[in-house]
Amino acid sequence: MSQRTDAVLITGGSKRLGLQFALKTLELGFSAVIHYRNDISEALKTISPKELKDRVHFIQHDLSEKPELILDKAHNLPVNLVGLVNNASIFTEGNLEDIDDLKKIIWINALVPAQINTFFARKIKKGWIINITDAIIEKPNSRFQNYRISKQLLQQLTRQQAYLFAPNLRVNALAPGAMIPASTEDQHYFNSLSEIIPMHTTGDLHSLMNAYEFLIKSPYITGETIRVDGGWNIVS
Ligand SMILES: NC(=O)c1ccc[n+]([C@@H]2O[C@H](COP(=O)([O-])OP(=O)(O)OC[C@H]3O[C@@H](n4cnc5c(N)ncnc54)[C@H](OP(=O)(O)O)[C@@H]3O)[C@@H](O)[C@H]2O)c1
Repeated sequence: MSQRTDAVLITGGSKRLGLQFALKTLELGFSAVIHYRNDISEALKTISPKELKDRVHFIQHDLSEKPELILDKAHNLPVNLVGLVNNASIFTEGNLEDIDDLKKIIWINALVPAQINTFFARKIKKGWIINITDAIIEKPNSRFQNYRISKQLLQQLTRQQAYLFAPNLRVNALAPGAMIPASTEDQHYFNSLSEIIPMHTTGDLHSLMNAYEFLIKSPYITGETIRVDGGWNIVS
């Protein structure tokens, strides 16, 4: 029987930042188990045919219900799962008065990762988890109240589950700043952010992927959050 390769499961990994995490995962020598909901066309265009054939697996699932099923699906693949990146997320405007929106966004952005992590910890005896949060969640805002609260909760869950899962699993968070504008976001506003951000730039994916690699390769770090935002949080 051929040896199983170590693999990383990336939620929402078929496009945008999730696809960047998948590409970096492959570059680091792992297989990539790419979870998606709707569409893998960007991944099929971006990842080389050889990698697609040898080291990439796709899992389709809407995380609104029974999110832990993605782990059952991953376990049926011929890989040895060692890592998990909770990247899938909802980024929409919404305020606390809209309780249905608050519940939905907390479910997808915080409770789904927490639940997937719990099931991951039951199945995986040695490995790591990285939750993708957001660098700009300290200060209250008016437009993205529910999103901010959901990512704050995910940050706290990171620390709590790091405590619960040690020493078998490490749990850390990566908190990006302005990397890729959301499809709903005003492009002019996104571009103008480089005037506000202390390092005067947006979209430094290279620094984000360096931080991802650093967390994977640092067995003595758990419960931490690394912000990769050019210092935006200092001024926000
Ligand atoms: N973009 C940035 O500059 C930035 C800045 C700060 C933090 N972040 C964080 O970084 C991560 C990636 O950002 P992004 O902008 O690339 O994310 P995104 O495009 O907003 O969403 C990532 C993925 O989440 C998936 N998703 C949402 N709801 C789902 C559901 N119910 N079931 C399954 N999948 C679902 C989407 O899948 P479908 O497309 O198939 O629906 C999408 O591909 C997110 O956690 C985000 O909060 C991003």
